[in-house]
Formats: sequence, structure tokens, C-alpha cells
Amino acid sequence: MGGDQDRKVNGMSTEASALLETDFVPPDEDSLEGGTDREADYQKLLARLCAAAVVRRYEAYRDIAWDDPEMRVDPDDPRWQLPDDHPLGATDWYRAQTPEKRSRIGLNMVAGFCYTGRIFEGVLSRGLLRFAATQPHNSLEYRFAYHEVIEEAHHSLMFQEFVNRAGLPVPVVDADFIQATERVAEYGTTFPELLFIYALGGEDPIDYVQREGYRKRSDRHPLIQRISQIHIVEEARHVAFARAYLRVNVPRLSEARRTEMSLVVPGILGVLSSLMMQPPQHIIDAYGIPPDVIDEAFTNNPAHRDLVVASLSKVRALCEELGLMDAEATRLWEEAGLLPA
Ligand SMILES: [Fe+2]
Ligand SMILES: [Fe+2]
Repeated sequence: MGGDQDRKVNGMSTEASALLETDFVPPDEDSLEGGTDREADYQKLLARLCAAAVVRRYEAYRDIAWDDPEMRVDPDDPRWQLPDDHPLGATDWYRAQTPEKRSRIGLNMVAGFCYTGRIFEGVLSRGLLRFAATQPHNSLEYRFAYHEVIEEAHHSLMFQEFVNRAGLPVPVVDADFIQATERVAEYGTTFPELLFIYALGGEDPIDYVQREGYRKRSDRHPLIQRISQIHIVEEARHVAFARAYLRVNVPRLSEARRTEMSLVVPGILGVLSSLMMQPPQHIIDAYGIPPDVIDEAFTNNPAHRDLVVASLSKVRALCEELGLMDAEATRLWEEAGLLPA
């Protein structure tokens, strides 16, 4: 399974390749800053990202040892319990629940986020396919967009497999939802800059949470640790691509288009960061989490707000750099709770 494949692919032990992966520094996201020939730098970055997508790539059913005994998912495993520094884990309500309920809530939240991740990736992939369809021959944007779709497909497979193994209820989205998200997918051809903001709006918060979890918790379940590790490595490329695309293309937009973009961005980021960082309604209902506990943990929790703000700090700095935060846009960021208090 995964370990054998790592040996075959990388010629090194699983431990060594894991170390390499955690220490993996993605191609410099800021390499486009200050260069004299931005377009040439952009093409070089795309070429590096495409090359990395060939040599450091993972497959959901090849590189995760799903059936190893240590990977088994047991809802009563205390490792699923939320840590004390988690917004919900820190509440008196959560700590007063039985150990069984605490671990089920934790596991169900992981499964819920995995499912949200797969839905987000599905919408993004639909947009990327539209984006790629209009690219000319020899386009590295075309090629990398396809690498990204392939990677997202494997992420979605691994997220869904985790949901299946968790065995706890996660409601499936309906056809209306797919229809409603069509507008985002259409950005791939009508307004690619907004598609890449959508990409960052989901990827930056997920990445932030996964890196923090990966770094902090030595007692984490090995299955979620492996899923996070794979995701962190590949998302670094997606984030680098989205940022570079925005750096090159936003300055080329008309004034009117840039203004339109600046007013839409906080809405996209607000919706995505709450989807990625707050428990879905079905979990609140299933475990009877009282409204005042949700309020204490998320809605009116300065520590949670700091977390959301921190998870979006890179995309916020990019928006500032690109002139997307005039007074009106800044007010919308503020209203969406995306700025430091
Ligand atoms: Fe992904
Ligand atoms: Fe991604």
C-alpha cells in the first residue's frame, strides 16, 4: 500500500518521505513580486508547478494504507475528541458530555468537513475545466489546470472514503445545490479571477486548519494525519497557481471589472471560511448543540474570529496588493467578520 508505493516512487522509506513532505517548501509564491518580466516569471512558475505535479503526486487508493489495522476508524476512539483549544472543545457544554459523545462529535465534524471539502473541490473542478477549455495550444495554464483537476479528484476520493469509513451521518447535497453552484463554475470562463479567489477562499482556510492540526497534535489518528499530509503538499501548488494567476491578471482588468471583483470577494470568502471552519447544521442538530454554545464557540468568540482572520491573512494581503480593498470593499470585509477586531 502507501508505504511500498512511497519506496517505489521516491526510493526512500515512508518515514523519510514523510519528513520530506512536511518540510516541502512549495515553489515560492511570491516569486512574481518585483520581477522585471512578470509574464516570463509566471511561465517559469507554471513550468515548475507542472513538473512538481508529475514527481510528487498521490493517489487516493494507492498511497493511503486504508486497510492497515492502525488506520481503522472507531467512533469511540478518544483521539477523535476535540482538543481544549478548539472553539467547541473549549466549551463547558462539550466537556460535560460523555467520552463516547465527545469522540463522535469530533469524528462527525472531521467527516462533515471532508464532505464539505469534496463538494468545494467538485465546484472548483467544474470551474477549472471550463477555464482550461478556452486556453490555447501549448498553454501551461491549460496543463496545470488539468493537473489540479486530477489532484482534486483524488482528494475527493480520499475525503469520500473517509466519510464512508466514519459511518456517521453526513447529508448529501441535492440537485438544487449543484444548480446554484453553477454560477461559480461559470466563472471559469466568464470571470476566471473570481474562480481563483473562490479557490483561495476554500484552500487557504482548509490549509491553515490542516497545517495547525498536523503541527500541534502528535496523538492524531494516523489516517487523518496521512490525508492531511497529502492534501497540504498538493494544495501548496494550487494556492501558488491561484495567487500567481491573480497577480498577473487582476492588474489587466478594467477599472469597472476590478471594482465589481472587489465587492464580490468578501462575500465569497465569508461563505467559504464559515463552511470550512464552523460545524455544519446537521451536526448541531444531530448532537443537540444548544444555540448559546454555538454562539459562545463561534458566532461571538473573539478567539474563533482571530482564527478565521488568520486563515485568510494571505489572501487579504494579496487583495490589498492588488488594489481590491478600497473603503467600500473594506467595509464589506469588516461586516463579514474577516478583519482583525
Ligand atoms: Fe484539494
Ligand atoms: Fe486545491
